[in-house]
Amino acid sequence: MVKVSSLLCFVVFVAFGFVHGSMATTEEVGVYELKKGNFSVKFTNWGATIISVVLPDKNGKLGDVVLGYDSVETYKNDSGYFGAIVGRFANRIGGAQFTLDGTTYKVVANEGNNTLHGGLRGFSDVVWKVRTYKTEGHAPRVVFSYYSYDGEQGFPGDLFVTVAYTLVGDSYLSVRMRAKALNKATPVNLAQHTYWNLGGHDSGDILSEEIQIFASHYTPVNSQMIPTGEIVSVKGTPYDFLKPYTVGSSINKLANGYDINYVLDGGAGKKMKPVANVHDKKTGRMMELWTTAPGVQFYTANFVINVTGKDGFVYQPHAALCLETQGFPDAVNHPNFPSTIVTPGQTYKHKMLFKFSVTAPS
Ligand SMILES: *[C@@H]1O[C@H](CO)[C@@H](O)[C@H](O)[C@H]1NC(C)=O
Ligand SMILES: *[C@@H]1O[C@H](CO)[C@@H](O)[C@H](O)[C@H]1NC(C)=O
Ligand SMILES: *[C@@H]1O[C@H](CO)[C@@H](O)[C@H](O)[C@H]1NC(C)=O
Ligand SMILES: *[C@@H]1O[C@H](CO)[C@@H](O)[C@H](O)[C@H]1NC(C)=O
Repeated sequence: MVKVSSLLCFVVFVAFGFVHGSMATTEEVGVYELKKGNFSVKFTNWGATIISVVLPDKNGKLGDVVLGYDSVETYKNDSGYFGAIVGRFANRIGGAQFTLDGTTYKVVANEGNNTLHGGLRGFSDVVWKVRTYKTEGHAPRVVFSYYSYDGEQGFPGDLFVTVAYTLVGDSYLSVRMRAKALNKATPVNLAQHTYWNLGGHDSGDILSEEIQIFASHYTPVNSQMIPTGEIVSVKGTPYDFLKPYTVGSSINKLANGYDINYVLDGGAGKKMKPVANVHDKKTGRMMELWTTAPGVQFYTANFVINVTGKDGFVYQPHAALCLETQGFPDAVNHPNFPSTIVTPGQTYKHKMLFKFSVTAPS
């Protein structure tokens, strides 16, 4: 199933490229690297994807802390959204439809009757344009853009999207996502879908990593992973990471692992607020994340099975964790969730800031 849909996805891409050749196929797919001392990050404009993040551990040994593939070509086959920007609407839309200003829009269903991460060929499966690639100076950066057309995967209106990745200071990675609705109101929800394993992409599972998530509430889902609309306290549930615990501490109480949206305590405003701290004691690596988004999907790679990644390493469930800051899943069908609608003249803005550090050598 997975293979067929990703193949189909590629065929759809090629067909689209044939018709709209000037937009979709003239840009080549390449690899772009930003570096600050021993901190380096690689990207590809296929899906505006992060393909590696190399960091020292507490002994100065360098390691790549994100799951991925050796060849950019393999990303075109990927069904796990490794490192990509997902959109136009990250996470799920129940029944693959929503009503906006009295019109019901049917979007492409790609997970049962629902839409996941923008449909069969979302923003993770298209070639983005490279607008800026600046490797020198105090803030090296790469900026990708994508022009999404009216009706793409069923979504209304033309949308112009940019993602800027910048290395800040010695150890910060900033991700700035923007989207401008050009002629119709549309839901927009972008998310960065990197799979992190601070022990190293090839170190096994993340169950012994410690995580703290700054969220007192989460949005429960039904059996199809669609939010029920409730906003529930984490108290007394396996979702409580208000204090740091290992990822594995309560994971056995869940069917497959974590795959849930948290309501961040900092509120739905535009201010940067803390999302999570992740600490791998073995290597001493630490990651802190802030965002402007109201929610974060915490996902423990539950459905990554026998995926051959970098250096031939085979990734298994819980090989990594994702912290996808975002608007709430299916917000288009839940008026009590923060709005994800962007109207013409408005700009969707979503920032993430990652800080990497190491605890002192033991
Ligand atoms: C990079 O790592 C090497 C090996 O641990 C270390 O000697 C060097 O000082 C580091 N360079 C920077 C700029 O941190
Ligand atoms: C893509 O997937 C197909 C089907 O599993 C496989 O035959 C092919 O080798 C893959 N291509 C790459 C570049 O990984
Ligand atoms: C999709 O919807 C149809 C019609 O309501 C239903 O029969 C079917 O079981 C649903 N499929 C899934 C995977 O939920
Ligand atoms: C994963 O690989 C193992 C070993 O080759 C195999 O036994 C198992 O069936 C595979 N699982 C899936 C879901 O493909």
